[in-house]
Amino acid sequence: MTQTDQLRAMSEDHSAHNYHPLPIVVAEADGAWLTDVEGRRYLDMLAAYSAVNFGHGNPRLAEAARRQLDRVTLVSRAFDHDQFGPFVAELAELCGKDMVLPMNSGAEAVETALKTARKWGYEVKGVPAGEANIITFEGNFHGRTTTIISFSTDPDARDSYGPYTPGFRTVPYGDAEALKAAMDEHTVGVLIEPIQGEAGVNVPPSGFLRAVRELCTANGTLMIADEIQSGLGRTGTTFAVEHEGVVPDVYILGKALGGGIMPVSAVVADRDVLGVFKPGQHGSTFGGNPLACAIGREVIAILKTGEYQERSRTLGAHLHDRLGRLPGDLVREVRGRGLWAGVELNGPARPVSERLMDLGVLAKETHETTLRLAPPLVIERADLDWALDQLEIALKG
Ligand SMILES: Cc1ncc(COP(=O)(O)O)c(C=O)c1O
Repeated sequence: MTQTDQLRAMSEDHSAHNYHPLPIVVAEADGAWLTDVEGRRYLDMLAAYSAVNFGHGNPRLAEAARRQLDRVTLVSRAFDHDQFGPFVAELAELCGKDMVLPMNSGAEAVETALKTARKWGYEVKGVPAGEANIITFEGNFHGRTTTIISFSTDPDARDSYGPYTPGFRTVPYGDAEALKAAMDEHTVGVLIEPIQGEAGVNVPPSGFLRAVRELCTANGTLMIADEIQSGLGRTGTTFAVEHEGVVPDVYILGKALGGGIMPVSAVVADRDVLGVFKPGQHGSTFGGNPLACAIGREVIAILKTGEYQERSRTLGAHLHDRLGRLPGDLVREVRGRGLWAGVELNGPARPVSERLMDLGVLAKETHETTLRLAPPLVIERADLDWALDQLEIALKG
């Protein structure tokens, strides 16, 4: 039995944490490359679902973490630390907002945004107690908590977990008329992924995000952009809403905010929204801890150079150009923006991702027929071209 087989058998026997992983065990990582325990190298075209935008083992981020590891890493919520103020100020500035509420996982930040919208709805908008509704979209993926899966339309995510949290209405993604029809005076928030990641990199019709913004403004409702996967450079801009010149009331961030080192998430909004929380009303043991803040600050500093947004734009244009030239009998559609693509195949995507793995490229299928590509933004153009050459080979079977 190889070391890989032994490790895989242990996780198959003992783990209930089932993400349908590609069957490899990573021992080392560098930039866009991963090495398994047998020494085989793979080009990572998945970037941990966009959590590793700035590359595996990014030296700036690793150094920021190491520096903080030699200092204080965790404090109780009873007192502050020297990374907290700068982190929240710098993140607020990046988003053009006043306030930040740091959490850890993406789902926690989404929960925080939902609580924000409800509390804001009751205390600021004046919705009668217990009457608030929040609108979400078909195909959404916002995490795995009991409330979040209550408005999922994916049976795998939702079934067998009821009773479900009430107070959500779901409308088709991209349908502004349906959104308008679903809104009423008790609508406190519209929760939207500017591009739906887990659903297969679904880009809404042009003008849709602007329409959502206008409807929210007209109705006095918070537009809440879940940029956990689409944000922080992935699509060629810092936030995906920028492609339509839209500014949401609330940003939800996660994944790449932790630099591929640890979970860091946050809700970012103006004071008249996030200011509804008073001391003791919401929080988290680990949210905004010194190590998380130190890494998050370095991520923000990296984003402020604009280098990775630019890489995503130019390499992304190349990626989409090449994907667009794949044979139509094999590929039905290519969606996405920047270094992010959903390749809709004419058959199941899993065998293609397995063939790609044998060829040294890691990419993952989603929803049967979609192959998802989201390499770290540090990927070299020659490596990207090589991965696309492998994709052509894998598609031909
Ligand atoms: C758009 C979006 N929101 C929320 C989440 C949940 O984040 P986490 O897995 O960190 O809880 C994800 C995860 O894939 C996501 O893509």
